[in-house]
Amino acid sequence: MKKYSLFYFFLFILFTSGCQEKNKHQKETVLQTENISDIHSFSNVEEIQPQHLDLDLRVDFEKRQISGSATWKIHPKEMIMKAIFDTRNLHIDSVLYADGSLANFHLGKNDEFLGKPLHIELRPDTESLQIFYKTQDNATALQWLTPEQTFGKQHPYLYTQSESIHVRTWIPAPDSPGARFTYNAKVEVPEGLLALMSAENPQVKSKDGKYYFTMNDKIPGYLIALAVGDIAFHSIDHRTGVYAEPVILKASINELEDIGKMVENAEALYGEYRWGRYDVLMLPSGFPIGGMENPRLTFATPTILSGDKSLTNLIAHELAHSWSGNLVTNETWEDFWLNEGFTTYFEQRIMEETFGKEYSAMLWNLSERTLRQTVSYMGENHPDTRLKIDLKDRDPDLGFTDIPYEKGSALLLLIEQTVGRKKWDDFLRNYFDTHAFQTMNTEYFIEYLNEKLLNENPEWKNSIDIESWVYGTGIPKNYPHLENLRFKKLDDQIEEFVRNGKAIDLNTEEWSAYEWMHFIGELPKDLSLIKMHDLDYVFDLTHTKNSEVADLWYLLALHTNYEPAFPAMKEFLYVTGREKFLEPLYKQMMQSEEGKEMAKEIYKIARNNYHPLTQKAMDEILNWKEN
Ligand code: BES
Ligand code: ZN
Repeated sequence: MKKYSLFYFFLFILFTSGCQEKNKHQKETVLQTENISDIHSFSNVEEIQPQHLDLDLRVDFEKRQISGSATWKIHPKEMIMKAIFDTRNLHIDSVLYADGSLANFHLGKNDEFLGKPLHIELRPDTESLQIFYKTQDNATALQWLTPEQTFGKQHPYLYTQSESIHVRTWIPAPDSPGARFTYNAKVEVPEGLLALMSAENPQVKSKDGKYYFTMNDKIPGYLIALAVGDIAFHSIDHRTGVYAEPVILKASINELEDIGKMVENAEALYGEYRWGRYDVLMLPSGFPIGGMENPRLTFATPTILSGDKSLTNLIAHELAHSWSGNLVTNETWEDFWLNEGFTTYFEQRIMEETFGKEYSAMLWNLSERTLRQTVSYMGENHPDTRLKIDLKDRDPDLGFTDIPYEKGSALLLLIEQTVGRKKWDDFLRNYFDTHAFQTMNTEYFIEYLNEKLLNENPEWKNSIDIESWVYGTGIPKNYPHLENLRFKKLDDQIEEFVRNGKAIDLNTEEWSAYEWMHFIGELPKDLSLIKMHDLDYVFDLTHTKNSEVADLWYLLALHTNYEPAFPAMKEFLYVTGREKFLEPLYKQMMQSEEGKEMAKEIYKIARNNYHPLTQKAMDEILNWKEN
């Protein structure tokens, strides 16, 4: 033990001295977003200063292709003779200067994750470049749905998912979270469909299929989004509303009734909502993630339509990104925890404000369990269990684990508990105000936090020990566990049930979905089939409408080989594209020979309904080869 602690002490000194050096340098980079060095972008943004993007696009469902032009307004520094944009699997037709003459361009060598840099020759006076291009079949940002894959079954659907570095597969762009610009777009779609973007949006369909968008606030490329389909709108209050296919519109409105209140609660916490409207688009079930914080228009999975508003924390989360992420943006994907950790913390605060302290305490406890499971699965020394991670030569999507979310938010809770809520909230409010529409990196955040808050009291700094959270692996010893009476009460019931209880004797009247999630999550993986039958007989968990509960139940059914749940699980896997739900189920099936057979049978049918990136991930889990 001693040997190790000396070793770590040495490492710590090495680290902190290294950090201080970096700090000085990093501070400048944040304040004048000029020297961004993002290992996941080829673009020379600091040299060409892209300011504004004009899109003129056509969406062709037959060819499954977006084509048109992207015009970039740039302010190249003196003597800069070349502009570089990011592209990946994009076909570039031509590039024009403002006077209509052709510019020389070429695509560089392809990088597995980053794609190809697009080099364009500049003239001394170049202020705009119009790039004509087409998307190709393997554009990872795009998911094209057939009518059968929608709720309405009548019209095709398209949506984009640009985070982290996929915008370059549908728009040639400086694709780095540190590069911000405004945009306008004209988008032409088949008549009868509505088009929506992360911008000022229409609320009714146009007669001719043409739509015009403006986003007047500067945003990074990963927040550009487009959705096209048979979509209708319903307003919730003066600035919030819901978009969805007509057949799920009513259910969506009921589920999201509280979003107006959520925006107000969020504002009361951390300051004015700065994006004008806040609307939510409820997508078809193939959407690969839970939600995406596209400015002005959150994209959401319909798996939150539980009928009882129990999964709306997802909306609180995406809404919170309107401050953490969209206003103050991680400078590179290695600082991703600044986006997601802050947002998860903020999500909890909105939930507390909207549904009460007891309720949010349950969320914190579930978050702790997720973190402990993830860390024990990855290994407590795994470098990706650090908050600041190393993504050199790696796909930045690999940073999308539970760590930035759950460990990141826990660190902020620890700071809250240490300095007190009042001081912490004042700090955060100032933090968002001071850095609005700017980028932030880990080193500068720590420096800013120390300067504005922690230096006041050396004991705070010591007891938080932020470096061990950010640069150390695993779960720090000072993890801020929150007591939660509702789960405590539950734990006694779980113990009793597992020992010799009966389902009918469980006192479930007041259980929320969170209690069910905790309950199923805590049941032993080798629970007897008799108990599984008993639970299902009394509560019909196999047919629960709550997707989070269903997912946990199916996972337990696989562990215990409880076959009556399998038909419903198969249905779930056929229609749901949300990777978070699919991954554990397929992984568990792959643990046994029979399971493997079942997984392949299901996947054969389901694969086509999944997003291209989800297909790639599941192909790997199943050792699937397309034939
Ligand atoms: N911004 C993320 C989604 C994302 C992250 C997409 C990284 C691509 C790369 C979004 O805000 C998010 O965190 N979604 C969660 C929702 C949840 C934590 C409530 C999801 O999709 O599961
Ligand atoms: Zn998020």
